[in-house]
Amino acid sequence: MINQSPSWKALSNHPPIAPMRELFASDPGRFARFSVQACDILLDYSKNRITDTTMSLLLDLAREAGVSDGIQAMFGGRHINTTENRAVLHVALRKNTDESVVLDGVNIVPEVQRVLNQMESFVARVRTGGWKGFTGERIRDVVNIGIGGSDLGPRMVTEALDFYRERTLDFHFVSNIDGTHIARVLEKVRPESTLFVVASKTFTTQETLTNAHTARSWFLGRGGSGSDIARHFVALSTNEVAVRAFGIDPANMFAFWDWVGGRYSLWSCIGLPIALAVGMDNFRELLAGARDMDEHFRTASFEGNIPVLLALLGVWYRNFQDMPSHAVLPYDQYLELLPAYLQQADMESNGKGVTKNGQSTPYATGPILWGEPGTNGQHAFYQLLHQGTTVVPCDFLAAVNPLHPVGEHHVILLANFLAQTEALMRGRTLEEAEKELGKLPPEARKALAPHKVFPGNRPSNSIVYPELTPRILGRLIAMYEHKIFVQGIIWGINSFDQMGVELGKQLAGAILPELRGEQIGVHDASTCGLLRYCLDRRKG
Ligand code: F6P
Repeated sequence: MINQSPSWKALSNHPPIAPMRELFASDPGRFARFSVQACDILLDYSKNRITDTTMSLLLDLAREAGVSDGIQAMFGGRHINTTENRAVLHVALRKNTDESVVLDGVNIVPEVQRVLNQMESFVARVRTGGWKGFTGERIRDVVNIGIGGSDLGPRMVTEALDFYRERTLDFHFVSNIDGTHIARVLEKVRPESTLFVVASKTFTTQETLTNAHTARSWFLGRGGSGSDIARHFVALSTNEVAVRAFGIDPANMFAFWDWVGGRYSLWSCIGLPIALAVGMDNFRELLAGARDMDEHFRTASFEGNIPVLLALLGVWYRNFQDMPSHAVLPYDQYLELLPAYLQQADMESNGKGVTKNGQSTPYATGPILWGEPGTNGQHAFYQLLHQGTTVVPCDFLAAVNPLHPVGEHHVILLANFLAQTEALMRGRTLEEAEKELGKLPPEARKALAPHKVFPGNRPSNSIVYPELTPRILGRLIAMYEHKIFVQGIIWGINSFDQMGVELGKQLAGAILPELRGEQIGVHDASTCGLLRYCLDRRKG
């Protein structure tokens, strides 16, 4: 296991590191040494608890863990998702037409391009009004019904690229099985001008199928007929049989493949809502951005490789500094949903406690990921980031230029981003706090000063880009995908299955008939008590 490797052992015995404040004071070259620019993205990782020795050991760790072989295996179409015996080829979804990716002896790029072309003609018809609803009206609302990867990716990107959206179309996303979700969306749309996009890799997901059935009944109950379904329902799936069984004509189905993981699928037809929103040219730009990052990741040396560096810093904090959580803080309102998207990408991928060989990992794996856009977070949880007893490494993301140049807003936003990373790193000593309270009488000063001390030495990465374009967004998302991938290799886990979501699903299947009134089965006292409480108070 990786914790037996020389670099892991050396990292465990790493000599103490001086506070970052001192490291910056004594080393004017720190920013130059610990920052990288690639794909129009600046990664400044100098505000981390690292020295040259730390980085050199972490880079050794990447080598000893076989990250290079792992990269080759993924891009080469090997079945690295071992528990499901599947290749992991979301990178093939963003290849150019003239490139090839061979999976089990077959070049899969032409098939990827076929679906992209199918999307292109559909998107053009909907966006120009050529695709008509059952009364001859054009489509005005698109409702995506999906959950997990079939929701978070397209929803996050549609929101992130809203600046580029076609204004004649409105977008809605229904994911939750809670009927409130679909009911509130259906209040806003009209059947004759609504397109439902039923997105499900497996087409067996309970939430999605229940929501899709409710949408169909609503449609049929408000003037639509069975033969009109074809104009108002399309499916995005790998499961043609189930799509037919639902009643959607396979002609209205966009396909993808089992080598695309749900949380890596926004680049496939699962991105159809994105393409409808911003047009196919912008969708292709998004793919091109991801392709740029793929090339950087595949070819750059580890020392200058943005996803590899981010991954190694994450491992450093998770495994050697006992920091279990990681915050993603976009100073870009358009990236509001990025933390939620990354929660699935990261935690469903690396929230594992068993290695590929089936052994329990004696070390920690994926962090608890969370976040909110700045500056909102500053007025909510940053108190804990600055003075709390848990140190949380943070990623700050910021665009140099705004898409909405409104007065002084953007410089104020940037000032806050820069100030936060500086404050986290520098902190404020007792002496400084007392000095700032200079006007108070000595007694009061002494009493108040400890509350105004900031420990500092709190790590952050700054990820800065010129402005948020589809291409930059593609690069940022792929950057995080590859970071997660590298961490999975180091921890020796399979980042591409999600068996941890199954038990709850299975038990919900058993409890459902009990809530419908059948006899309560064997459960613990708590579950029985909760069931009984619900059954006694259920209305209707
Ligand atoms: O949450 C489990 C999961 O399988 C995710 O991995 C996936 O993104 C989501 O459910 C939805 O699955 P599907 O696209 O098959 O409906």
